[in-house]
Amino acid sequence: MKGVVLAGGLGTRLYPLTKITNKHLLPVYDKPMILYALDTLKRSGIGEIMVVCGREHAGHFMHFLGSGKEYGVKLSYALQDKNDGGISDALLYAEDFADRDSIAVILGDNIFENDFSKEISAFTSGAMVFFKKVPDPERFGVAVFDKSGTKLIAIEEKPAKPKSEYAQTGLYLYDFNIFSYIKKLKPSRRGELEITDANSMYLIRGELTYSIIKGKWYDTGTFDSLLAASMELAKAAKGKKQ
Ligand code: TTP
Repeated sequence: MKGVVLAGGLGTRLYPLTKITNKHLLPVYDKPMILYALDTLKRSGIGEIMVVCGREHAGHFMHFLGSGKEYGVKLSYALQDKNDGGISDALLYAEDFADRDSIAVILGDNIFENDFSKEISAFTSGAMVFFKKVPDPERFGVAVFDKSGTKLIAIEEKPAKPKSEYAQTGLYLYDFNIFSYIKKLKPSRRGELEITDANSMYLIRGELTYSIIKGKWYDTGTFDSLLAASMELAKAAKGKKQ
């Protein structure tokens, strides 16, 4: 399976840092954020990866990552014209790259301890999402389960009153239908094509499966979460050295 790293967006919550360069090139402990996402895909057995980024700092990505050889992956690039079009809009730029096959998609500001080799090699069709139990689910897409507590019946985007503690993380596996589903989406109230809406199209058709991840997960889109991730990763790295 090929992989896509979505690294567009405006990164407004990290202004003024993101006026200098793109969010995904800012440091998380000892390396630029995007290397964690590339590494997650690589550890999951994916070697051919497309980076989708905005026009403004596109040169910074190419200058830093090059062909990907240094990092053991083969990279290509696509430019998202409207850098606040939404996650689903960004993914549309990878349609030709996917070449009618399934695809693994990761948000460039997500850091996972897990690898996803097992799920990726078992994946055949539909879509798969990954949830993580968190103390602040209202910041994310939130899983809604039926009374049995295991059947996923909805994913609610940033609900005021979350119906579970399970947040949708930024890793998704899709079959090629994702591109036709995204083309049917309408912009949300905030004017973006939402990934949760695309996932809900699979859910309605009974084609969405999920897994709950046990390893650590950080989303690094705010000053506080960026700092927390850096501190934890520094602690873990020092622990390993001792
Ligand atoms: P967000 O954090 O929702 O948006 P953002 O990165 O623009 O930041 P902010 O809300 O502070 O303005 O995006 C999550 C990930 O999705 C991010 O890592 C980049 C990706 N993304 C795109 O590739 N294109 C887009 O149009 C958007 C909105 C996000």
